Amino acid sequence: MQEAFRKDLTHLTWDEVYARQLKSADLVGEWMDALRLKTGDRVLEIGAGPGYVSLVLADRVGPTGVVYAVDRSAEALAYLERLQKERGVSHIRRLVADAATLEPAGVRADAALITMVLHHAEDPAGILRNVARFLSPGSLAVVAEFHPDGPCDQGPPQGHRLTSHQVKTWCESAGFVTLSERRQTPEHYMLLVQRPS
Ligand SMILES: C[S@@+](CC[C@H](N)C(=O)[O-])C[C@H]1O[C@@H](n2cnc3c(N)ncnc32)[C@H](O)[C@@H]1O
Repeated sequence: MQEAFRKDLTHLTWDEVYARQLKSADLVGEWMDALRLKTGDRVLEIGAGPGYVSLVLADRVGPTGVVYAVDRSAEALAYLERLQKERGVSHIRRLVADAATLEPAGVRADAALITMVLHHAEDPAGILRNVARFLSPGSLAVVAEFHPDGPCDQGPPQGHRLTSHQVKTWCESAGFVTLSERRQTPEHYMLLVQRPS
């Protein structure tokens, strides 16, 4: 039987979270294309978990770029550290922190991903406000979530899902402008937002 969903993810091992990230692997290319990520870019990933997406991002930006992988769980980032060592990837900087209060010292990004994380967070609006401080004017961010009308075959149960209207409202209160909204699959949607120039 499946364990009941817990916002803090303690119902799953990091192996299980990684396996779930693999199941959503098809979404990542569209996130990177929407952000127009290229070699040499600096990209901030909020709620990186065990790091599947961080490794794909590292591949896209190459060793002249950098991925800042932020997660409040030291264990999740230790999992990513192991994968980096196995694969010889050194341009991912892991930062153990709450994304709502992380300080931007030394971190400056051209783009950000906040994907499948806000429904786990205690202060989702605070995360979006804080992320804006790390981005240069004109930078893009992708915010992706599970759709409340989705089949709920994967991801959180319906009661834990966030409407795109709610997420857009938080983004706009944080100073972002919404450029587009897209239903990627019956289960998933993404917003592309921009920090104004
Ligand atoms: C489902 S997992 C990984 C999602 C990953 N971004 C993806 O798209 O596959 C969500 C992660 O968000 C992290 N998280 C939740 N709230 C956070 C916060 N306030 N600050 C930093 N990390 C947070 C959790 O520890 C967990 O590792």
